[in-house]
Amino acid sequence: MLSNDRRFVVSWPPSTKALLGNLSLALQTGELHQNRRKLLAQAFLPRALSGYIGTIEQITGQYLERWADQGQTELVWYPELRRYTLDVACKLLAGLDNGSETELGHLFETWCAGLFSIPLALPWTKFGQAKRAGQQLDRVLTQMIRQRSADPNYPDPGSDTLGLLIQARDDNGQSLTPAELNDQVLLLLFAGHETLTSAIASFCLLVAQHPDVLVKLRAEQTQFESIPLSLDSLKQMTYLEQVLREVMRLVPPVGGGFREVVESCELNGYQIPQGWMVLYQISATHQDSDLYPQPDRFDPDRFSPENLQQQSADRQKYGYLPFGGGIRECLGKEFARLEMKIFAAHLLRGYQWELLPDQNLDLVTVPTPHPKDDLRVRFSSLRC
Ligand code: HEM
Repeated sequence: MLSNDRRFVVSWPPSTKALLGNLSLALQTGELHQNRRKLLAQAFLPRALSGYIGTIEQITGQYLERWADQGQTELVWYPELRRYTLDVACKLLAGLDNGSETELGHLFETWCAGLFSIPLALPWTKFGQAKRAGQQLDRVLTQMIRQRSADPNYPDPGSDTLGLLIQARDDNGQSLTPAELNDQVLLLLFAGHETLTSAIASFCLLVAQHPDVLVKLRAEQTQFESIPLSLDSLKQMTYLEQVLREVMRLVPPVGGGFREVVESCELNGYQIPQGWMVLYQISATHQDSDLYPQPDRFDPDRFSPENLQQQSADRQKYGYLPFGGGIRECLGKEFARLEMKIFAAHLLRGYQWELLPDQNLDLVTVPTPHPKDDLRVRFSSLRC
């Protein structure tokens, strides 16, 4: 189901389908989907990613300092993390500064809140409000795209994804229409914002709950303190990589994906009729005790180089899938890994955080997993 199997096509809940634009990659299928994936992937090639590092570091630094100023008694971290990832996404995907405070940011949050809701379009329902916000978002984005496309002097059109996509051409030399640019940018903002917030919040929570892991993470960072962050230096932070992998195993931001059966078939001895819906389960795979003994335990050493060496390529490919797999594998996975690592490196080097008592840390799973009481911490700079 994860491979290029034409008996299954991607499917989304009705509310998501209705709110994502028709021209968004998530809803495109077949050759058009392949063609567009190739085009959009240009924004996540190593050269483009390298160019994003400085901006991510700058926004991360500003947020961390602000949290240290405000959070000495209490910081309600999850909504702040949402603002942080939205600012990074708006800047790098659409070239917009302080996105969370703009009209686009506010409309986007209302739109997101309706993506997985009951598809009843009334003025007071989440879905109805999201539909209206979606129409206004179209207007704001269309205007941005028009301005950007018409401005030959735009400082560096390749410095963000929108700039790259305006210039990009598909295999037939065609550029994306303004309407498609609109839908694709909105999809990228959504895909890159909710999931990353969840992964980063889980990292902060799990590391706070495991001081032994924190000590090892900090020790690794001291080896890199004098080296500028780059794709290469981030790759060398192997313990951080292990920890992030284990975070996304234990709390995958996306629990699974729906596929519609377009041709009756047999899978593992089961007959699956055409028209049925099947769900591939990321969470259940990551909780399989044959693959991960004591699956509820947070243990980054599961992903140590020695342990990975003992696993077959298939076991690694199909037993660990926070980013899905096959033709629908997450397009922004390297972007996500980059942002998580930069955030973690800056946090570990300069700051400390402590979970406040009397809060509910159980995870709410919609739209993506996060602690019920929004992760309340005491936050300060290590320099104090
Ligand atoms: C920790 C962060 C992230 C996680 C865990 C994640 C996870 C996933 C998963 C599981 C899928 C496959 C859904 C399916 O099989 O139906 C997916 C698809 C996708 N992701 Fe991500 N994602 C993350 C971050 C991002 C970011 C940062 C971007 C872009 C900036 C992004 C863009 C996309 C896109 C465009 C697709 C649709 C691909 C297609 O349909 O061909 N994701 N993601």
